[in-house]
Amino acid sequence: MYKIIANWKMYLDIQSSRNLAAQVATWWDYTAQTGGELVICPSVLALHDVRQQVDGTKIKLGIQGLSMSPVLGAFTGQIPGEHFSELGIPYAIIGHSEMRSLQGVTDQDVSNQVAVALKHDITPIICIGETLEERNQGQTEQVVTTQIKTILSSLEIHDHEICIAYEPRWAIGTGKAVDPVDAEHVHKQIFWAIKEYTKQDISRVHILYGGSVNADNLASFLQEPSVDGVLIGSASADPDKFKSVIEAFDAMLNT
Ligand code: PGA
Repeated sequence: MYKIIANWKMYLDIQSSRNLAAQVATWWDYTAQTGGELVICPSVLALHDVRQQVDGTKIKLGIQGLSMSPVLGAFTGQIPGEHFSELGIPYAIIGHSEMRSLQGVTDQDVSNQVAVALKHDITPIICIGETLEERNQGQTEQVVTTQIKTILSSLEIHDHEICIAYEPRWAIGTGKAVDPVDAEHVHKQIFWAIKEYTKQDISRVHILYGGSVNADNLASFLQEPSVDGVLIGSASADPDKFKSVIEAFDAMLNT
């Protein structure tokens, strides 16, 4: 089953989040449900309203940030894993490139956050990927391999569902998606690195692609054998574009 993750970032106010969630709940119909799992990640203060709209549907919710601390305590401005597990929120986006560039989040921080997620039975959606400069220097494989090693090698992942989102940093929000065949190649490398550095059962690891996914290119990514889903930013926060994405997904499942 494909995973479709909608990262609403900070695009929407609470009312627009609520309205879009209500619409998505009607678009995410039977066909889509049988072939995919849809996870909406709104801003944390919109979670409550979004949840009311998707209650009773199969749509799942995720958050965009998580504390690095495994325990409650004096951590001003952080949101603890405890809160999300108390609320029954099953997914968390971790290590997104915007958190890396805006807040200086490192791979070691990401590893700590993943540990918090796993402790609370939250499925982490771990974002990794190279910069344009690294790609131009032919370092993509080395970069993602090192990221996987730093983030996962010290963690017990075998009992957990884990999503890795391969998001080339230059493809995020630029309208320039990677070539799907290229993504397939990097996804295989990521699989290899996870196997190599965790030496654990990775049958519950899903590798998703993210970066300028839209209705036009969705199917070409999902048709690659090592692409288990997609992480969609701007096209998921715009009602018309997201409706087209869901229609494209439906159409792909029906062909
Ligand atoms: P985008 O964002 O789809 O707008 O490129 C993807 C992401 O940031 O996860």
